Amino acid sequence: MSAASVRLWDPLLRLCHLSFATVFFANYFFTEAGERWHRWLGYYVLGCLVLRLVWGFIGPRSARWTDFWPTPARLAAHARALVRGQPHHRLGHSPIGALVMLLMLGCIGGLGLSGFLMREVDALWGEDWPQTLHAWLADGLLVLVGVHLLAAVVESLRLRENLPLSMLTGRRRLPEDS
Ligand code: HEM
Ligand code: HEM
Repeated sequence: MSAASVRLWDPLLRLCHLSFATVFFANYFFTEAGERWHRWLGYYVLGCLVLRLVWGFIGPRSARWTDFWPTPARLAAHARALVRGQPHHRLGHSPIGALVMLLMLGCIGGLGLSGFLMREVDALWGEDWPQTLHAWLADGLLVLVGVHLLAAVVESLRLRENLPLSMLTGRRRLPEDS
């Protein structure tokens, strides 16, 4: 018998996520640094970021900042559950997951901005810092994505639910006690 499930992640949120994931891997590993594809994909994902930021105010509940904003109290409760080895099953982002999400979105914004500064702002030509910042943000994002993927696998095993699949289909299983 399959457990009851609900539609949790809306199509716009899922499209933004697919775009973040695809463009990150494309720009980090495949496109030529700074070339046309790299720049256009970078600006496209910057557009997705702006859309996602606005969606956090006007979108459905699971997309809203207020639903999962990682306040110190929420982070502490999540950390305590982790230390006790209790699974944290909630229909929405977990507090620590949300913190990593915010850091990843911050890196994407910084990559777009530093890329723009180094390419398009004449006054900064010959300056090294936008390039150094861009490279640091890209590597920082790689580390965060590593943590994100590891957490997705570990939490999927602990909850016995395929979380990556839920980001594609939008559906999540209902917690047993609800
Ligand atoms: C998700 C977005 C992006 C990622 C993951 C990314 C990643 C990277 C990486 C890994 C490098 C090589 C850095 C190095 O080691 O020197 C690079 C270089 C570069 N990126 Fe991006 N980038 C993104 C967005 C952008 C955007 C929006 C622009 C806009 C113009 C841009 C312009 C450049 C340029 C010009 C370089 C070459 C810098 C150099 O001459 O060393 N990037 N990027
Ligand atoms: C193929 C690799 C990836 C998989 C399997 C994956 C999986 C997931 C899953 C399962 C969630 C939902 C977490 C939850 O239940 O609370 C999520 C959310 C998220 N992931 Fe990923 N992810 C991947 C790559 C990435 C990359 C590369 C980025 C950023 C560069 C990223 C950024 C995000 C963001 C921002 C969210 C929050 C979604 C939102 O509310 O808009 N993910 N991811």
